[in-house]
Amino acid sequence: MKVLYAVSEAKPFIASGGLGDVAGSLPVALRRRLIGCRVVMPLYEGIPQQFKDNMKFITHITVPVSWRRQYCGIFEAKYNGVIYYFIDNQYYFKRQGIYGHYDDAERFAFFSRAVLEIIPHIDFKPDVINCNDWQTALVPVYYSRYYARREGFENIKTVFTIHNIQYQGKYGREVLGDVAGFSEEDAPLLENDGCINFMKGGIECSNAVTTVSPTYAGEILDPWYAYGLDSILNERKWKLKGILNGIDTVSNDPAADPALPANFSAEEPQNKAVCKAALQKELGLPENPDVPVIAMVSRLVAHKGFDLVKCVLEELLTTENVQVAVLGTGEWQYETFFNDLAAKYPDKLGVKIAFNSALASRMYAGSDIFLMPSKSEPCGLSQMFALRYGSIPVVRATGGLKDTVQDSGMNEGNGFVFEDYNAHDMLHAIRRAVHGFADTEGWAILRKRAMECDNSWGKSANEYIKLYKNLIKN
Ligand code: GLC
Repeated sequence: MKVLYAVSEAKPFIASGGLGDVAGSLPVALRRRLIGCRVVMPLYEGIPQQFKDNMKFITHITVPVSWRRQYCGIFEAKYNGVIYYFIDNQYYFKRQGIYGHYDDAERFAFFSRAVLEIIPHIDFKPDVINCNDWQTALVPVYYSRYYARREGFENIKTVFTIHNIQYQGKYGREVLGDVAGFSEEDAPLLENDGCINFMKGGIECSNAVTTVSPTYAGEILDPWYAYGLDSILNERKWKLKGILNGIDTVSNDPAADPALPANFSAEEPQNKAVCKAALQKELGLPENPDVPVIAMVSRLVAHKGFDLVKCVLEELLTTENVQVAVLGTGEWQYETFFNDLAAKYPDKLGVKIAFNSALASRMYAGSDIFLMPSKSEPCGLSQMFALRYGSIPVVRATGGLKDTVQDSGMNEGNGFVFEDYNAHDMLHAIRRAVHGFADTEGWAILRKRAMECDNSWGKSANEYIKLYKNLIKN
């Protein structure tokens, strides 16, 4: 079986969030299970030179973007046993950052078209193309409208994976013809709420739609979570499936992680104390092993739960003997809120406004409790990293958080869970964790159980394989 994984970011080349982690690890897991999986992504300016140096130029072709004819260079590199194709066009991709340009619709229409156009040139005819999020959502639409009956493109199945339904690729109606190159009669495939919606097109035209946890697959049928796509998803429920993400347990291993000042494991957790002291020092907090460190590593945006945190953080800092550590960048209101409060409570709150994956590892390793109170969370990877690094998650019961964290109230479970999106319910869950930490023996048992949770790709990679096989059969 051959799978082409089309994605707008992938680790280790370039990543802005969880999508990059998944694209960097699922294809590797599929290859290990003897599935021929290759990845195709844009050749961004921001990919480090050391990776560019190892790319091989294959050929160049011309790709249509509506009436435009654009250059498309195809480069290839092998990493971790997986072959990656890089789509080169300097006009679209030789820019700062990955997303957020005024012409993103055109950039990713080009990329999606290129994913299909390169197929005759790479000596790899896929049985399945797995697309991800709105940036590649047009691939199934182009395939079904323009390629399905073209020689050399027959019988390809398309899977569309939703990593976050909040970002849909919504544009004005003028994008339909002039940018995406569709005709008026294709409009119903892409139109939603009077806009051209790339994600809707992906849902309509793919053979299967997946999302990144079973709970989220149910949640997005509800208007509260679906950002306007619930009715189309309810109509297409028969092809929707939630498959929980895994994490790369090799590069995220506290026993080997080079970013840590000392390594540790579930069997030998002693050095976690070294990591904790070092983190306290790094953040300018008093080095005290007896005070629980509560960490947050996240984009600082409301839907990750920062509106709740903003309500009760000062109450937490003044009523409990805790230290809070925050790492992330995001909305100005949260960045200033944390900076101001850290100035007021320098011994209790350590803040780094940055995107820094080595420090993120040190936060997982050096903290005791990991707070992730998301309003919605398609899967969430941070809670899995936290578990693996022995930091006990406090989460809201939503999406993948619900599927990976069970409340330890009844002596089972691996974390602390609250149900309603309410600041004091969150505070109560944090307090339960803080009081749990005071019971040294009980906490050590909980931490070991958390560290032993298996969130590797094993089971989920097999579910993808089963899905692909079923599609090919029909
Ligand atoms: C998005 C989601 C996150 C998920 C990740 C990978 O970033 O917000 O919950 O873990 O994609 O699928």
